Amino acid sequence: MSDKLIIFDTTLRDGEQAPGIALNSDEKLAIAFQLAKLRVDVIEAGFAASSDGDFEAVSRIAKEVKGPVIASLARCVPNDIDRAWDAVRHADRNRIHVFQSTSPIHMERMLRMTPEEVMQSVKEGVARARSYTDNVEFSPQDATRSDPDFMLAVCRAAVEAGATTLNIPDTVGYATPSEYVELLTRVYTEARGANEDVIISTHCHNDLGLAVANSLSAIAAGARQIEGAINGIGERAGNTSTEEIIMAIRTREDQFGVEISADTTEIVETSRLVSRLTGYPVQFNKAVVGRNAFAHESGIHQHGMLRDRETYEIMDPAAVGHVSQIVLGKHSGRAGFADALRKMEIVLEDEDFERAFERFKELADRKGEISEEDLRAIVDYTSSKDSELIHLVSMHVAGGNEVTPQASVKVETRGLTLEYEAEGDGMVHATFAALKKAFGIDARLVDYRVVPVTRGADAMAEINVVVQMGGRAYAGRSVDTDVVGGSARAFVNALNKAAQQVIAETVGEVQA
Ligand code: KIV
Ligand code: ZN
Repeated sequence: MSDKLIIFDTTLRDGEQAPGIALNSDEKLAIAFQLAKLRVDVIEAGFAASSDGDFEAVSRIAKEVKGPVIASLARCVPNDIDRAWDAVRHADRNRIHVFQSTSPIHMERMLRMTPEEVMQSVKEGVARARSYTDNVEFSPQDATRSDPDFMLAVCRAAVEAGATTLNIPDTVGYATPSEYVELLTRVYTEARGANEDVIISTHCHNDLGLAVANSLSAIAAGARQIEGAINGIGERAGNTSTEEIIMAIRTREDQFGVEISADTTEIVETSRLVSRLTGYPVQFNKAVVGRNAFAHESGIHQHGMLRDRETYEIMDPAAVGHVSQIVLGKHSGRAGFADALRKMEIVLEDEDFERAFERFKELADRKGEISEEDLRAIVDYTSSKDSELIHLVSMHVAGGNEVTPQASVKVETRGLTLEYEAEGDGMVHATFAALKKAFGIDARLVDYRVVPVTRGADAMAEINVVVQMGGRAYAGRSVDTDVVGGSARAFVNALNKAAQQVIAETVGEVQA
């Protein structure tokens, strides 16, 4: 029997550190439930000490999500470790993941600590984590730019202090596969010392596009845990993509000789959920989950596919959860709509169901056919409305090449209906300006993207915006056939998140 490879997913921690992602605890919980369905082995649910919001999300995931080990990140400082434990202790199986930088540039320039101080902090940090749980991971941050002898000595000390997993981060995505194998071979042979059962793990960033290759190469060096994030999201160019690792192991078992527990049929659903909630679109040609990953364009390829799917496909689309689309039409009634939601395992209570059905009829009239993706967008839209402080009731825009673009928006807040107007460089700009007046907060638009999600002139477009306020970014998203209307809804979505943060901080200050 081959060895087990542990899939450690950090979508909710490292993935969430990507610029512009701001998930609330309900959204994080939804992703964690889906990761459990995908059967990853470890969910790094967040960095509990980094904010009250993260602490709450990690605690809720630890209490409610069953199956995977639930981990929290912590620096080698007592408060971080105590907060991590307070959050993960509710889980059936928990882990504290402590890290400390070992590279000269991080120690000298960032931490301003000597190597001796770094060594001491690791011994104390790991021992403190170990006093809480027998599942402790240690990561020497920026390991691939560290002096290997020092990094290995720190790892040995971490094992002596009780670490059960040694994770070797290529924090800045600098390593090449052969270098990474060489380094991990040394960790495997020289650092486990006091405990032969210590698991060696990879954590690779994608700055040179080598994250997946580096992670997979390390299996030959004895690594038995790979860390990744769904859709490869994360700091800068992102992390190793969890779904690519899973499919590489399943498709090329002959090469890797390790086993994983993942349910591959949940991959596409997980990717879509993460994309929807983070506002990060999936690149069309992204391996495994891109919308073109199983599309065949040229005549020769299509001819081959008609004869035998395997002429041009190494994976079965159904194996990763690309299933045939549920299509509803404008004549579909409540029963058909309810049946489609049931098949997608979506449960809506009475009022939400009615609201979603209303929106479905409205869209079906405009579009004719409604796909599974459209249905998800409808459900998303209707369920986000409840948490809004300010709701967009209606809008009117005017533009063209002979008039100054203008917009007026009608919004509802605490039972009041108010109207605001503004002019802009274009219709979207004018709409955003009117909405900013409605919210009365100083948020700056820093990113705006429109991507078609279905095909044809009546296609649904996914609109993603990111606004920045007080040094934090808030993402908003909507899906619509109307780009101006959809942009307004995405902007409202982001502004609501920013406004909620202002209220949370004000309440916090008043209580303090
Ligand atoms: O990239 C990195 O070094 C990290 C560590 C905190 C594990 O994310
Ligand atoms: Zn990282």
